[in-house]
Parts: sequence; C-alpha cells; structure tokens
Amino acid sequence: MSSAVLFDRYGTLDELYAADVPVPSPGPGEVVVRYTAIGVNPIDWKILRGDLRAHVPLGLPGGCLGVEAAGVVVDVGSGVRRFRVGDPVIRHGRPGTYRTYEAVPASQESDELTAQPGRFSAEQAAVLPVAAGTAYSSLRQIGLRAGERLVVHGASGGVGLATVQLAVLTGAAEVVGTASAHHHELLRRLGATPVEYGDGLLERLAELGPFDASVDCAGGTQPTETAVRLVDDPARRVTIVADPQTQAAGVPYLEHVPLELASTLDLIGHSPFELPVTARFPLSRAAEALTLGRKGGLGGKIVLIPEA
Ligand SMILES: NC(=O)c1ccc[n+]([C@@H]2O[C@H](COP(=O)([O-])OP(=O)(O)OC[C@H]3O[C@@H](n4cnc5c(N)ncnc54)[C@H](OP(=O)(O)O)[C@@H]3O)[C@@H](O)[C@H]2O)c1
Repeated sequence: MSSAVLFDRYGTLDELYAADVPVPSPGPGEVVVRYTAIGVNPIDWKILRGDLRAHVPLGLPGGCLGVEAAGVVVDVGSGVRRFRVGDPVIRHGRPGTYRTYEAVPASQESDELTAQPGRFSAEQAAVLPVAAGTAYSSLRQIGLRAGERLVVHGASGGVGLATVQLAVLTGAAEVVGTASAHHHELLRRLGATPVEYGDGLLERLAELGPFDASVDCAGGTQPTETAVRLVDDPARRVTIVADPQTQAAGVPYLEHVPLELASTLDLIGHSPFELPVTARFPLSRAAEALTLGRKGGLGGKIVLIPEA
C-alpha cells in the first residue's frame, strides 16, 4: 500500500484526509512514478474550495490535489519509449500529486512528465512547473526583450521570484518588484529593485518609471491601476490572477504556452536559477502546509515530502 491525501467533496481543509491506497500498475503508455517532493500552490486550496470546478476536471469522491511533483520512475508500461526505471522526472499539469505513487501518461504526445535536469534537487525540481512555468509564459505574453524595464507585482511569491529571475536572464535593464519590506533583501540578491506595496505605490513606482511592461502576480486594484497608468500598451501588461475586473480594466489574463516547462528549462539552462524552499511538511500534514501557504509571507515555496 501507499499514501495519498484525498477529499470527497469541495470545501475547507477539513475535507482532506490521509488514505492508504494500492501502489498503481502502469497501463499501456504510462509509467508509475514514486514522488520524492511535491509542490504546494495557491491553486491547490482554490481547487479544494471548488473555485475551478468548471475548468479542472476532478473525480469525486477520492479527489487528489497537487499539480506538480518530482520523483523517480519505478515501473514502465507497454509502449513507453521516453522513460526507463530509475529516471528522475518532473510531473506537472493535471491535479493529483498529493500521493506517494502515481501512474502517469508518458507517451510522446503527453505533456505531464519532463525529464528532471540533474542539477536540480528533487525539491527544486518539484516547485519549478507552476512558478517558473507561469513566469515563462507571462514574459512570453508581454514579449519582454533585453534592455527593457519591467515591474513585477507580488515579486516575493513563488511566481514573482521566478519572474524576476527569468526577466534578469532575459537581459532586462531593470526589474522593479513589489513586496513586503522583509523580502526586499531577497529581491535585491536576485537582481531586482524592491518597492513596498500599499498606500502610495503608484507614486513610488512612477518615480522609478517609465516601464515597458508589467506582470501582476498579486491581483487586486493596485497592480491593475499601476499597470494601466505606467505601461502604455495593454499587450505588454499581464495578470496571472483570474479577475474579470482586472481584465475589463485593460490587464489581459495569462495564456500558458504549450511545452511550458521544457521551454522554461531551456531558458534557464545552467544559470544560477533558484526558488527558495522555505517550508517542508510530511505529505500527511498537507492541510497544515496549505494553511501556511494561505497565510503567505513566506518568500518562497512549500513542499510536501511523502513518508517512506
Ligand atoms: N494563472 C495562472 O496560471 C497562475 C499560476 C500560478 C499562480 N497563480 C495565482 O497567482 C497568485 C500568486 O501565486 P504564487 O504561487 O506566486 O503565490 P505565493 O507564493 O503565495 O505569493 C503571493 C505573494 O503575494 C504577495 N502579495 C500579497 N498582496 C500583495 C500586494 N497587494 N501587492 C504585491 N504583492 C502582494 C506576497 O508578498 P509579501 O509576502 O512580500 O507580502 C506573497 O509573497 C495566486 O493567486 C495564484 O493562485 C496563477
């Protein structure tokens, strides 16, 4: 048997329960992966709450959260050519990684598994898909080029930290990131100019402008207002937080590019890209991890570690 954290109906964190489930066997075109680290994201509790039920198909009862993880292939189904037993892989996309073992589609056409580059630890690899992948698509959408000036709202969150680093890698002339004061040193280390959000943000940013483009990883009225006031071209603004009012105000919502993680890894190459992992929980304590994530202020990512 193996472990999984499941839920039977949409609701609060109280719906989550740890369960013993059989170790799966791979079907044709599948591999079984044993996860070593699982990324925790805001989308997890949004899915649990039912916010995405129209867009993200989920089998209930017995639903499983988690849209990213790193692990090792332990069994290979018929017809799979891309992976062998022992390969380290990153799983991304469809929810279901809050478990120890999972059977995952692994055919050429499937975009749920990517080979894990050796230079990343399992924890680093587990948190790359959502943060770095979303950052990559955001920068593609606004067409950031070398020599340009970018503002990133929510720069100390998982996606924000990745956006800052990918923008610096792209050759941005300056990246200004909004964050709480206790994250300013972290942003400076990554090459950004930090600015505190809250009252007077528009004036503080206007002093540092003009900006060619903006990425909103925080949501709400301030990032929207500043994007509209400080970036002339609507096509060079993007928000990753779904909010019809933001889009109506002229800040387009993100569209992810295909093969996002592979493209992101290509861009990162061997650069010193790193997402701080600031909290770790055993898989069975997923609800505590999600509570901490919702509280925010971590300046990095949370991972779940499946018990042996
Ligand atoms: N569309 C997509 O595909 C997509 C993908 C990933 C995430 N998202 C969404 O994007 C949001 C961020 O995700 P994440 O994983 O980066 O979250 P996260 O790691 O929890 O970070 C959230 C950050 O927001 C900052 N923040 C809060 N209020 C702010 C404000 N008014 N101005 C500027 N920063 C503010 C906090 O900074 P301080 O701690 O410094 O205060 C915190 O670091 C979530 O809503 C998530 O659901 C969407």
